[in-house]
Amino acid sequence: MANPNVKVQYNQIFINNTFVNSISGKTFVTLNPANKLKIADVAEGDKADVDLAVKAARTAFQIGSKWRTMDASARGLLMTKLADLIDEHKVTLANLESLDNGKPYDDSLLDISAAVGTLKYYAGFADKIHGKTIPADGPYLSFTKPQPIGVVGQIIPWNYPILMLTWKWGPALATGCTIVLKPAEQTPLTALYVAALSKEAGFPEGVINVVPGYGPTAGQAIASHQDINKVAFTGSTEVGKIVMEEAAKSNLKRVSLELGGKSPLLVFDDVDVDEAVSIAHDALFSNMGQSCCAGSRTFVQEGIYDKFVEKAAKMASEKKVGDQFDSSTQIGPLVDEEQFNKVLGMIESGKKEGAKVETGGSKVGDTGYFVYPTVFSNVTDEMKIAREEIFGPVQQIIKFKTLDEAIERANKTNYGLAAGILSKNINTVLKYIESVDAGSVWVNCYDAVNAQTPFGGFKQSGHGRELGEDGLKEYLEIKTISIKKQF
Ligand code: NAI
Ligand code: MG
Repeated sequence: MANPNVKVQYNQIFINNTFVNSISGKTFVTLNPANKLKIADVAEGDKADVDLAVKAARTAFQIGSKWRTMDASARGLLMTKLADLIDEHKVTLANLESLDNGKPYDDSLLDISAAVGTLKYYAGFADKIHGKTIPADGPYLSFTKPQPIGVVGQIIPWNYPILMLTWKWGPALATGCTIVLKPAEQTPLTALYVAALSKEAGFPEGVINVVPGYGPTAGQAIASHQDINKVAFTGSTEVGKIVMEEAAKSNLKRVSLELGGKSPLLVFDDVDVDEAVSIAHDALFSNMGQSCCAGSRTFVQEGIYDKFVEKAAKMASEKKVGDQFDSSTQIGPLVDEEQFNKVLGMIESGKKEGAKVETGGSKVGDTGYFVYPTVFSNVTDEMKIAREEIFGPVQQIIKFKTLDEAIERANKTNYGLAAGILSKNINTVLKYIESVDAGSVWVNCYDAVNAQTPFGGFKQSGHGRELGEDGLKEYLEIKTISIKKQF
């Protein structure tokens, strides 16, 4: 049951299956974004703590260690055990997630169920990762042996804390890597709780380490570390570039990046308008718009534009904004003051540049970081709200005439994470699928994100893929072995 008074049991750094204070002794405060009140003080890790965590992860990765000699199937079973424990503790975890992040309690439960599914999906891969025998020229038996990449650093954001953790841990554990994870400073609590569950599941010491702390200190120490083999990052494009630069300047560690987006959703006038309005609404407003793949440019064909705008504004205006623990709440607070100010600033910029506020357009009260669901019409491509990631409950509805024009405008962005199209015309859909620059294309739906299907970005939305079988590649080195035949 939803319980805002859930007790915080774990607020320290997790290294070698033990909770410890930071070496500096420093802590930071994590807040409830609905009332700005302190939830807990959390140990603030920085470079020295990351060094200790990396040492633990390196030791756990040594040849002959418990982890390296464990049967792959046993590794998969440990992952399944962890998934089952997360499921068993889902009420506590959902309460901690909602308290820390602000998302409605039922949404946290949905995230946790997806997180459990992700770990189970990858658990099944643990003993199914294998190479090829290759008929190479010469007197050789040649084959490939995929090996775990080593110690991986993982830096995750605050929008889906526990889900992002499992997107990172799933492929890392299935391939046999060891982990140093830094949760976002806004939302460290569920990662620490899951760390405790990983010990209970039976993971050997040092395989999983969690160091809460800030980006420019703990995050930077991971990206620039000389003994981390790979860094996986989810967050802003701005920081993604820093992570890549630090990786290059240090030890050329492998890098995978899942960054922002400004994803187009095209709505053609042959669709059922009510259904289209509802899909486009969810595409943008789910998680209060704080989603990397949010459908944040709603392109609507001119024949239904006015009707669509009217219905979209009505739907948004009827959403209940409120405390994340109130069961009638559909829109909770934004995660923190920085996001709150950024989103309000974007709304002001939309107004100034001549877009029309159809509903919302302001904050709600002063107790927390609440913003009314906002719908802008008369949005043009040059406006800041049509170009930059807002990461808040603000929908931009843009008019278009033809498919070719819409494709060109949809692609006129540095991002390329996701794209949607709503149309009954198969050829319209097929041409869009072929032309749009996006890692995921959703047809007559949106946000069909699943553990089984790869997810990631074209252009400046990222590098590499997470989820699906493709997600494993980011955690493997391929070793080619050639043995001379001497008979
Ligand atoms: P951010 O990119 O600063 O933070 C994401 C993670 O990176 C956090 O764990 C943070 O501590 C870490 N980090 C920050 N600076 C770092 C550095 N120099 N080196 C290593 N790690 C570092 O994102 P932020 O500031 O929380 O949000 C800003 C904007 O980024 C949002 O408004 C949104 O547009 C975008 N964003 C996109 C996300 C996505 O899912 N793609 C998630 C979060 C934010
Ligand atoms: Mg930042």
